[in-house]
Amino acid sequence: MTTAAPSLPTQQKAWAQAIAQPAQEFPLTPLTVISGAIPADLRGSLYRNGPGRLERQGQRVSHWFDGDGAVLAVHFADGQAQGIYRYVRSAGFTEEEQAEQFLYSGYGSLAPGPIWQRWKAQLKNAGNTSVLALPDKLLALWEGGWPHQLDLHTLETKGVHPLGQLTDNEPYSAHPKRHPQTGHIFNFGIVAGANATLNLYRSDAQGHIEKKESVPLNGIPLIHDFVLADRYLVFCVPPVRLNPLPAVLGFQSFSDALMWQPKHGTQLVVVDAETLEVVSSEAVDPWYQWHFGKGFVNKDGDIVLEVVRYPDFATNQQLKEIAAGQIKTKADGEFWRICVEPQTARVRSQTCLIANHCEFPHIAEDQPTVTAPTYLSMQPSEPDTEGELFRAIARFDPDTEKLTIAEAGSDRYPSEPIYVPKAGNDTPSGWVLSVVYDGGAHQSELWIYDIDRLTDAPVCRLLLPQVVPHSFHGTWRPA
Ligand SMILES: [Fe+2]
Repeated sequence: MTTAAPSLPTQQKAWAQAIAQPAQEFPLTPLTVISGAIPADLRGSLYRNGPGRLERQGQRVSHWFDGDGAVLAVHFADGQAQGIYRYVRSAGFTEEEQAEQFLYSGYGSLAPGPIWQRWKAQLKNAGNTSVLALPDKLLALWEGGWPHQLDLHTLETKGVHPLGQLTDNEPYSAHPKRHPQTGHIFNFGIVAGANATLNLYRSDAQGHIEKKESVPLNGIPLIHDFVLADRYLVFCVPPVRLNPLPAVLGFQSFSDALMWQPKHGTQLVVVDAETLEVVSSEAVDPWYQWHFGKGFVNKDGDIVLEVVRYPDFATNQQLKEIAAGQIKTKADGEFWRICVEPQTARVRSQTCLIANHCEFPHIAEDQPTVTAPTYLSMQPSEPDTEGELFRAIARFDPDTEKLTIAEAGSDRYPSEPIYVPKAGNDTPSGWVLSVVYDGGAHQSELWIYDIDRLTDAPVCRLLLPQVVPHSFHGTWRPA
């Protein structure tokens, strides 16, 4: 049962309705088909994570990244789909539920109360950024802390999990990468402090950390994602540095204490995936990125990586404004391919592949990385994109450099597209799944596209029982 849309101030766009009220959980529910039919051979589970609650007792968080994590699961079997949506019951969330008010600071929000109490306030692990599906558990990820363990079917939260080796101050970031050949899972975490380090983790396929290394950092940068390219990990450390004192003393949130310092350039750091030791490092002209697409080593032995680049850190301000329901700051990401010489970390070449504002690159992992298409969220080239969220998804084919854009329509906001391979096909084939918020109807739907007919209508549209606010990242777990 969907609820009535809240009335919006006239300057707000339709997307703001989806986050105007805290999201409502729903139990495991058979999903109604709005159009088309669920493909009979679509078997497995889609998981998505994002900030579900941005408000308590009329107080709103100050940054979109600080909403309490809520996970959507849609389980597909035998041509049927069941959906469930539950908050990540972190210790902080549970405490704030009982207190009926915010108690903790976050990435961009300060705990209520006088400053002299804030300095010792812990950050709340919002568990809101992404998910990692392991054989026996789902991890809800947040880059400043340990992952939360959830039941794969019911999404019941079972506490934080150290993955065998994390110590108290070692976070596990929200963008782990699975090696397509070995099954190893790579990830990192920034350990802040006077001698900040970039911690590197390699886990087995069950998620158990087998190897850890620490790389010293220059100041405390913001690193959100990295690239796995065959036998290398590549970090592009952007010139964003934390001004630590105001953040530690509680005068400023971490987000507000992050400074754009282009003089540092963007530092490329190439790491050996076997030893987790740094191979090379080099500063290049500054850019900022949240996310990478694919990475691979080409026939010349060079690393090729895809990245959504921003000219500066204004994107952080834009993401802050989303929490307030109105975007005033323009910050467009472009999709680039960069070729890096591994032994020196020098850039051999760089090309802008997509100049349209885009984000959330997602790779077809069942195909050779070199030729696999990349799927993205995209802002179509049209007037009146100001203040809007993404209203299209797209497929980029590297061989032909063809860009196929599927527009969702007016006031419809598709989430990061997730590719799902069709099992048993000789030629790559499959679907793309995206949760779409329809601002006109104030409802959320799950759209299933055929990857070869992306500009056609989705092969199926499913109605979700409640509005699911815009989410960050998701994954597909085959049955
Ligand atoms: Fe992310």
